[in-house]
Amino acid sequence: MIRVAVVGYGYWGPNLVRNFAANDGAMVELICDVSAKRLEAARKAWPSAANTTEYRDVIKSSVDLVALSVPAALHYSMAKDAIDAGKHVLLEKPMCRSVAECDDLIERAAHRGVRIFVDHTFVFTPQVRRMAAEAAGGNLGTLLYYDSVRINLGLFSQDASVTWDLAPHDLSILDYILGGVMPHSVSCTEATHFDGHHPNIAYLTLQYPNNFIAHVSMNWLAPVKVRQVVLCGTQRMVVYDETDPAEKVRIYDRGVTLAEGETERLHNALIQYRVGDMHAPYLPNDEALAVEVAEIAACLSQGKEPTADHRMGRRVVRILEMAEASARLGGAPVANVDQQFASENSEQTASAARRGR
Ligand SMILES: NC(=O)c1ccc[n+]([C@@H]2O[C@H](COP(=O)([O-])OP(=O)(O)OC[C@H]3O[C@@H](n4cnc5c(N)ncnc54)[C@H](O)[C@@H]3O)[C@@H](O)[C@H]2O)c1
Repeated sequence: MIRVAVVGYGYWGPNLVRNFAANDGAMVELICDVSAKRLEAARKAWPSAANTTEYRDVIKSSVDLVALSVPAALHYSMAKDAIDAGKHVLLEKPMCRSVAECDDLIERAAHRGVRIFVDHTFVFTPQVRRMAAEAAGGNLGTLLYYDSVRINLGLFSQDASVTWDLAPHDLSILDYILGGVMPHSVSCTEATHFDGHHPNIAYLTLQYPNNFIAHVSMNWLAPVKVRQVVLCGTQRMVVYDETDPAEKVRIYDRGVTLAEGETERLHNALIQYRVGDMHAPYLPNDEALAVEVAEIAACLSQGKEPTADHRMGRRVVRILEMAEASARLGGAPVANVDQQFASENSEQTASAARRGR
């Protein structure tokens, strides 16, 4: 039985508590929040869990895992204290606010022999898993692009730009689909429309090896909620619409081919459109966090490797850093010069090529 403390009982924390409490291999022993009001809500909902406003009580407790659902600015310092006290940690996305912070946590965790999990919830959804399986199985052909629109009205974060807040979802989805392959170049354009607030609109473009390109449009100032991803391959295309109540994933047998023998003279007349069937596969209604919590319990009890580990968390933060650097340059592309990623990429690209990606 894994004994868990959940720290931060704001918007997301209650979901962590509910899912850890529902898992047979885990129990929520302690809930911590600096807000007496939030703690009162926790007490009412989970009377069997102890609660505290003091994080040092969590550090002194005998829990095995500390789940941190606090603003991103606190992730590093709180995770550092938990790790140094010999506790496994589940960090919310983004793992930290810099690669340097990620590296420090990774080193400390290795030293103490504890695990770091990062809550990249989307990679545990049946929809993302199906998209990744379609890509890995070769059904989509060679991957060409990923296009995501993630817009709605609010919630403006007090803590982070729209890029740091929303891009981790797409970056982790991409990381999962591409098996950890990193972009070689990132550009990001942002705008801040409200003085004293963080950028509320951003356009992020990622250039990957083999001419694969990804684009993410993020916006807290849109009249409607859109959560739509298109993953396009040479053979098929997948549309993942999170807001569709019935058919969240649709696979289209559509595409374009060039007329044989004429590939050197690109001309519209030589483009041939292929329009075939669409099907919407049945997908289980599993809650992503429940799948994730079950995996965490299995990792800790059976020594399994987590899907969203410190490496994925670090790769996502690395891209966010590059995006931030690009935004400061007005959107100029920033190249990935990290040597560690260059060597990781060649390994990942080779294994992805073997899997037909
Ligand atoms: N995985 C996901 O899909 C997902 C979704 C939403 C938010 N998040 C992440 O969860 C984290 C929290 O986001 P949120 O939207 O719940 O924020 P929130 O502001 O609603 O909640 C944060 C809570 O932390 C508490 N807190 C602040 N400082 C504290 C401290 N020192 N000790 C104890 N408690 C403290 C606050 O009182 C508040 O109740 C962020 O990192 C965010 O990126 C993840």
